[in-house]
Amino acid sequence: MTAAPSYTPARTLDGAGVTALVILGGSGNLTHTKLGPALFSLYRKGRLPANVRIVGVARDEMSSDEFRDWLRGGIGDAATWEWDEFALRLSYAPADVTNADALAAIGRHIADLTPGEGGELNCLYYLALAPGLYEPAITALAGAAMAGDGPGWRRVVIEKPFGSDVRSARRLNEHIHSVFREEQVYRIDHYLGKETVQNLLVFRFANAIFEPVWNRNYIEQMQITVAEDVLVGERGEYYDRAGVLKDMFQNHLLQLLALVAMDPPYAYTADALRNEKVKALSSVRRLSLREVSRNLVIGQYEGYHWEPGVAPGSQTPTYAALRLFVDNWRWQGVPFYLRSGKGMARKTTEMTIQFRSPPHMLFPVPDGASIPGNTLSICIQPNEGIHLEFQSKVPDAGLGMKSVALEFEYDEGFAGIALPDAYERLLLDVLSGDASLFTRSDEIELAWSIIDPIVDGLDLPGAPSPYRYLPGMDGPPGGAELLANHGHRWLPGCAEAR
Ligand code: BG6
Repeated sequence: MTAAPSYTPARTLDGAGVTALVILGGSGNLTHTKLGPALFSLYRKGRLPANVRIVGVARDEMSSDEFRDWLRGGIGDAATWEWDEFALRLSYAPADVTNADALAAIGRHIADLTPGEGGELNCLYYLALAPGLYEPAITALAGAAMAGDGPGWRRVVIEKPFGSDVRSARRLNEHIHSVFREEQVYRIDHYLGKETVQNLLVFRFANAIFEPVWNRNYIEQMQITVAEDVLVGERGEYYDRAGVLKDMFQNHLLQLLALVAMDPPYAYTADALRNEKVKALSSVRRLSLREVSRNLVIGQYEGYHWEPGVAPGSQTPTYAALRLFVDNWRWQGVPFYLRSGKGMARKTTEMTIQFRSPPHMLFPVPDGASIPGNTLSICIQPNEGIHLEFQSKVPDAGLGMKSVALEFEYDEGFAGIALPDAYERLLLDVLSGDASLFTRSDEIELAWSIIDPIVDGLDLPGAPSPYRYLPGMDGPPGGAELLANHGHRWLPGCAEAR
């Protein structure tokens, strides 16, 4: 029997002084649905700094009591005493987050929270804002003299989307760096906060049996699927400008690709890890405009035009399947098939790794049949787990063979331990100064440099136009053709494996 593991933050969260977590955009949906519940959960687990103060800031007029009640509404069951204790740490201040004077007043309010002369004040600014407000809010923080190190640290968290192409991402990085040093900046990709995404690192690098075969000599193809059953809903205006390539591929899918393709970092430190991801992303072959149509299939679900905020006749893709290559010694020639879409049959995020077939088959197989290579499925959500398919002899059937699976399910392997929400882990990491699960400036620019030519290619004459598909289907048939053209097919996913 092994002892239950305990969480070890990168640095201690305690110590003298106060930690102020200032949520700019404190009256928005992200605060209500994600940040509030994640902070409360951390509080209950005793993982927040002892002297933490959470300050919501937004234009909306609201008292601190109203803010507390509103946040309480986003939290499920909780004992009254626990909530009452937590609520003592919450306050709200109405202000225009782009106005330096208004922020300076908040800065004074926070400074009043420090215990006595010389007490340390650590400040975490969480920009839960519309992307157009990132730059002005950072300028205002600088103007209010809230960005420079005091006694205590200053950190800033920036949500996605981070830019809309490589140029805008670079400009935003430059602006941020004119105020904050890179090590103070935490760019969120919430997929990195998912336990099962982190488990990919443990799976690859805490076991000796996978790494020797994790390369072109043994792997035939990699598949990454991030499918969603939901439609665009209320986000039509944003989504119609972004489309699935910017909304999902540039960040979540490329992050998954980087983690599955990268070389082992020399240590589990933010820079070592991110250096390897940067190397992997640098090796991804950029598609020329001519290659886009041979390696990309796009789709749009029927009825997308009726979503509020979507332009009439919009060609924005809600589905894409993409074939990429990682040009380095490890992966030369191995296709990475990535797909994502809204209005798919079910919500699932998974990676399937298909190994090569045995080089020589000893056993009799019927004419025209072949033995498939082993597949390893990493199920990120839902039904988190890992499945390995291999051939087994069917008993009492001569040399008849059948694919069978070795399965690990999180909910069985770690029964009784609930998987925390990604934001819980990410908030804790920012508070403890661990940037491993955040995207570095060069990484984000590289990811855009992969996606930009593909998006640009869609505007050219002769570019693929979106196939229509019915919501509830597995995307358009063209998604399967992309693989069939190269002798592959989408492999049965985790839902089938279970
Ligand atoms: C967001 C996208 O980044 O990720 C959304 O903007 C998408 O369009 C969401 O729905 C998916 O996240 P998750 O955690 O539900 O898989």
